Amino acid sequence: MNEKLYYPNKELAKEARIKNMCEYNDLVEWAEEDYEGFWAHFAKEKIDWFEPFDEDKVLDESNFPFVKWFGGGKLNVAYQCIDRHLKTRKNKAAIIWEGDRGDKRIITYMELYKEVNRFSNLLKNEFGVKKGDRVIIYMPMIPEAAYAMLACARIGAIHSVVFGGFSAEALRDRIIDADAKVVITADGAYRKNKPYMLKPVVDTALAQDTPVEKVLVVERNNEDITWIEGRDFSYNELIQSQSGECEPEIMDSEDPLFLLYTSGSTGKPKGVQHNQAGYILWAQMTTEWVFDIKENDTYWCTADVGWITGHTYIVYGPLAMGATTVMFEGVPTYPDAGRPWKMVEEYRINQFYTAPTAIRVLHKMGEDEPKKYDLSSLKVLGTVGEPIDPPAWKWYYEVVGGGRCSIVDTYWQTETGGHIVSPLPFATPIKPACATLPLPGIFGEILDPETGERVPVGEKGYMCVTKPWPSMIRGVWGDPERFVKSYFGDVKKDGKPVYFTGDGAVYDELGYITITGRTDDVINVSGHRMGTAEIEAAIKKHPNVAEVAVVGRPHDIKGESIFAYIVLKSDEGLGDEVAQVKEINNVIKSEIGNIALCDDIAFVPGLPKTRSGKIMRRILRAIAKGEAITQDTSTLEDPSIVETIQNKVKN
Ligand code: WT7
Repeated sequence: MNEKLYYPNKELAKEARIKNMCEYNDLVEWAEEDYEGFWAHFAKEKIDWFEPFDEDKVLDESNFPFVKWFGGGKLNVAYQCIDRHLKTRKNKAAIIWEGDRGDKRIITYMELYKEVNRFSNLLKNEFGVKKGDRVIIYMPMIPEAAYAMLACARIGAIHSVVFGGFSAEALRDRIIDADAKVVITADGAYRKNKPYMLKPVVDTALAQDTPVEKVLVVERNNEDITWIEGRDFSYNELIQSQSGECEPEIMDSEDPLFLLYTSGSTGKPKGVQHNQAGYILWAQMTTEWVFDIKENDTYWCTADVGWITGHTYIVYGPLAMGATTVMFEGVPTYPDAGRPWKMVEEYRINQFYTAPTAIRVLHKMGEDEPKKYDLSSLKVLGTVGEPIDPPAWKWYYEVVGGGRCSIVDTYWQTETGGHIVSPLPFATPIKPACATLPLPGIFGEILDPETGERVPVGEKGYMCVTKPWPSMIRGVWGDPERFVKSYFGDVKKDGKPVYFTGDGAVYDELGYITITGRTDDVINVSGHRMGTAEIEAAIKKHPNVAEVAVVGRPHDIKGESIFAYIVLKSDEGLGDEVAQVKEINNVIKSEIGNIALCDDIAFVPGLPKTRSGKIMRRILRAIAKGEAITQDTSTLEDPSIVETIQNKVKN
């Protein structure tokens, strides 16, 4: 809390879009005084509309929380990201791609236009994809993943990108929930110079009945794969004969743009729905404000397109503003922990955006690696996905940023579409591990869930947004009730439900916001959001598991790791716990994917439950951390179980 303030570099601030806190405050006040006028102004300025929105339909809250923005407006997001730049930027690099093994591709805006149009025509003409159809994209980090997203946007199809690390079962669940008729995938890709495969996972996902009719396969690593005649088609073959011209579909402001599945505290992952105009507006505005990308800059976000960060800050935001976005297939520590810094030097990266986990790994594995490279091009360093700890922040600031760059600790979520709390790089004085202030236009407040009042300085409360903003989640696919319950059920301000993020947060004396982490049963492993209920459901599929409780345990690299307490049906086989652990992790691997593997599993004779049968997770969390139990255990059905579990975990 008592960290000193770091002020923005004065030279760099001179040319910044938002130059100082006065300008920040002016924008904040403008939004406070005339909320709709504020948004209407930027919507008009930033978006190339086919037809303007209705001035008195800027925000329609009549069916809150089902809100509508920019009513009557017509646009196309692919047009916004590509076509409109051709006049002034046709030969500018839109995407600079680097493969795992160092191979490179540079795609200009003109080339992107042609590629996306061909892709659009392929989907429309060969696959019969129409406006409103759902298309699953299960792809590695290759430019074709971005083409696929933009092609869907161009023809009005709703894409749902599934992270390539998810298992066949997880992919299948998403295909079925989205009722998708097309899957776009690749044979595989490369990771640490070795091929890994995606198409076989798709085959398994589609082995039982699904709504999928056609699969499009991009050839990336040319490894052997099996083909199903009539279902599987080669992108590389079909794309040849497609025209490079495709009229963009005329979309309404509130037509859906994409679904992205994310974990909640209960049940299966939910399909977060984002719509056209509001999403692209805030994607573009935050990319401009928070990264302050200049015309000739090169911007690199290391995320995967399978997550919201990849959607908003690799593809949509940077392209909407006509920037050059770097896309990277590999991992940051291969061939060594100098890889990102080598790339920064090579491409003269100006803005670099990554997750705290990556920063911690790079710090630990290569303390001095950044010093071997010329990093003087860097101006803005971003972090996202989980709280960053001050030591990692300071290394990032001093060693990577040379004490010259601003760090933007960007706080947001899949559901918020874009950043909601973040420093502005050349205005906001920053503090280690602090997301600082809500962006102009975002009414972010830390509220007391009981009273709906702002919490006093230093007291933990719930991170909320009290007014709808343009890129706010529009719905949970197929489940309007879950949408209302998940986000608008917990906190009311002045009697009115407000958006609750699921995160706890605290104010300091400057009014700065520090995010303290989830208040629900969601854990954050290496910046990946995971529902404990989802992991428990996976583990329960093992025939010998009677009961299971999963909690997060602090981890110095991953932020949190997964700790499972398991009660087995029979002790048989318990002689070999190593084998049991392996078996459990194999179930998780096939149900969810490697990202949900447990670091620790404790086989216990029972779980601490109240007399009404509720599992006391707080006790399990404390035991996992090795903390003393401060809770009253006398209300437990069997208080002695606590000591039994503690002893078990100690061993
Ligand atoms: C959750 C959202 C947003 C893109 C990547 C993750 C945590 C996100 C920060 C930050 C502390 C953060 C929150 C949030 N989170 N950014 N800067 N500081 N925590 O998206 O998978 O939807 O996860 O990530 O807990 O709720 P996501």
